[in-house]
Amino acid sequence: MTKDLTLLGIESSCDDTAAAVVRGTTILSSVVYGQTSLHMEFGGVVPEIAARAHAEKLDHCIEEALKAANVGLTDLDGIAVTAGPGLIGGVLSGVMCAKGIAAATGLPLIGVNHLAGHALTPRLTDQVPYPYLMLLVSGGHCQFLIVEGHDSYRRIGGTIDDAPGEAFDKTARILALPQPGGPSVEKAAAKGDSKHFVMPRPLLNQPGCDMSFSGLKTAILRARDGVIEEAGGLTRQDQADLSAGFQDAVTAILTEKTRRALEVYLALSPDTKTFAIAGGVAANGPIRAALQGLCTDTGTTFVAPPLALCTDNAAMIAYAGIEGMMHGEADDLTLSARPRWPLDDQAAPMLGSGKKGAKA
Ligand code: KG4
Ligand code: ZN
Repeated sequence: MTKDLTLLGIESSCDDTAAAVVRGTTILSSVVYGQTSLHMEFGGVVPEIAARAHAEKLDHCIEEALKAANVGLTDLDGIAVTAGPGLIGGVLSGVMCAKGIAAATGLPLIGVNHLAGHALTPRLTDQVPYPYLMLLVSGGHCQFLIVEGHDSYRRIGGTIDDAPGEAFDKTARILALPQPGGPSVEKAAAKGDSKHFVMPRPLLNQPGCDMSFSGLKTAILRARDGVIEEAGGLTRQDQADLSAGFQDAVTAILTEKTRRALEVYLALSPDTKTFAIAGGVAANGPIRAALQGLCTDTGTTFVAPPLALCTDNAAMIAYAGIEGMMHGEADDLTLSARPRWPLDDQAAPMLGSGKKGAKA
């Protein structure tokens, strides 16, 4: 039996500074320093502020992760670092930091695609066999991937504009609900009537697995302004009803497109029936329940990693690095940071770019 590799993972591609130590499929530590409060007043992630905060926090974060894992640098088999896609200043901070440690210790270095980190998480948490279907749905990403191997992905659809998390955040802003928008819109929606304001479902009846969410915020804005014009203001019930109408539309789009993605995936690989989700939006109760129901109907195993591993973290980067190193992959000190880095370079590029940077 070969020894399980122990890797330090480093993640700094967006607004979370993270470090983790993973041995095989065991997470020895995972530390995440969020930057939400730094960007709060700007209504989105400010790349310069993010990069500076990463550069300041990475050392502490790594030290804390090593300490919590009770391992020293000499116990490591390598360093995995997010080398893209993402906000270039942040990615550079992480890559430079990892290179510094690699140069000083002589440890092998491996650059990891952030999206691969998300996409391989079900293997870290549930040892899911290849190939499986994955829906990555967060504030910056939204795509269906058939994960065929640690470096083999087939993107069969995705958003053509906003990511759903972005739409939740914008909706919260329009309805004067707190940020991040996902949890507050979900909470308000629980008390609302989704039939009161029925929102559009763009691309729902178009063939394929592509999705669009940007029209929803315009629809919410119009509906809100209509209420204000008529009644002079927005009541809590209006907030709840508008939230419910919005969430219902997102759920309907994700469910219908997942149904089609499952058809494509199951036709290609009828024997391994697994569907996994990741990303902050995967925390949404009604969305999760709808996708789980769909899996039950099609006899597909539904895998939802714990929320802390669905959102940005470094354990997923360390684990993706482990899979890469097990296949003999390694980088050297010429490793460069890539703002765009599609997992499936055969697929047509996606349009638009999320608030958290390029969607790749
Ligand atoms: O994966 P994540 O932490 O960061 C990236 O975007 O990479 O996802 C954050 C996004 C935010 O837009 C947030 O509003 C959304 O996930 N989110 C939710 C919920 N919790 C977080 N969206 C819907 N329902 C939720 N309960
Ligand atoms: Zn992410």
